[in-house]
Amino acid sequence: MLAIEGGAANWAPERWKRRFLETCSNRKVALLPHDACAPADVRFAAVWKPKPGVLAAFPNLRAIFNLGAGVDALIADPTLPDVPIVRVAVGDLTSRMTEYVVLHVLLHHRRLLELMDDQRHRRWQPKEQWAANALTVGIMGLGTLGLDAAQVLQRLGFNIAGWSARPKSADGIACFSGNDGFEPFLRRTDILVCLLPLTPETKHILNRSVFERLNRNSPLGAPVLINAGRGGLQVEADILACLNDGTLGAATCDVFETEPLPANNPLWPHPKLVVTPHNAADTDPDAISAYVAQQIERFEAGKPLENVVDLTRGY
Ligand code: NAP
Ligand code: GLV
Repeated sequence: MLAIEGGAANWAPERWKRRFLETCSNRKVALLPHDACAPADVRFAAVWKPKPGVLAAFPNLRAIFNLGAGVDALIADPTLPDVPIVRVAVGDLTSRMTEYVVLHVLLHHRRLLELMDDQRHRRWQPKEQWAANALTVGIMGLGTLGLDAAQVLQRLGFNIAGWSARPKSADGIACFSGNDGFEPFLRRTDILVCLLPLTPETKHILNRSVFERLNRNSPLGAPVLINAGRGGLQVEADILACLNDGTLGAATCDVFETEPLPANNPLWPHPKLVVTPHNAADTDPDAISAYVAQQIERFEAGKPLENVVDLTRGY
């Protein structure tokens, strides 16, 4: 049996159940907590931010499928059973994130915030535009999502730098890694894109000290931040102060320390900030249920599961 559970606000459980019934047609599917289900029958669980303790109730669980790329919420549960956790690393989600990153890099590169403000005030004021290759986009996290976004931005002509935990190489991308690589990575970056997982090492990594070390000599005048990783990666008071004092020229945030972003949060109305409600890259039930079904088939056939989370690294 496959049990599905989720506690997130934008979770659409009925749609997931319908799709799992189609893609796992030879299997019982239970939507928790509504459907009756004997805990001992559950071999697989597909979850998105499940309530802590829920998964510990299944004594015969063989694998957990996290219905998203980031596993920070799931692995924070201290009662999590000791079974493999598979995360989403699928073309559908990757393309959605690349669309988001490209959209916001271009928005800042082509000065759209200023142009839209001019439109609101009926001002016809052409802005100087520069070539993509006048800027370097630095991508924190050169994994499934970061590498794809890097390659598409590279095709558009931007210079690309990437930063990862372990050394990497990728055609035409200046790759940096670890603590030693952080400083040279920041120094050359004009638009900082964060696609890191949230772990104890990366918590609050987007802070004033990092923003101050970004390149200030590009045509942009001041560096730009785009965070679509997790809210816990950023210090929001620093983002606000750095936007106000010019350390950052502009920013886009899809993720926040508290979600939904409270109505009285001063980030909402900031003219140099684009706020999106954590939907840079949604996990689509059509695409992801097929991926989970395929992984279960692999497992039942004795083949290794793919994209298994390394709990020692936390992603
Ligand atoms: P991934 O394939 O696991 O890639 C993670 C990257 O981060 C890897 O390159 C990894 O380095 C690097 N990294 C991790 N810890 C690091 C550290 N301490 N220092 C330097 N680099 C570090 O993950 P992904 O699929 O690309 O997803 C990334 C994150 O995006 C997810 O964890 C999630 O939080 C976020 N996300 C957000 C949305 C949204 O809608 N906003 C949607 C999907 C995902 P190595 O390559 O050396 O391991
Ligand atoms: C969404 O935030 C994800 O991690 O897939």
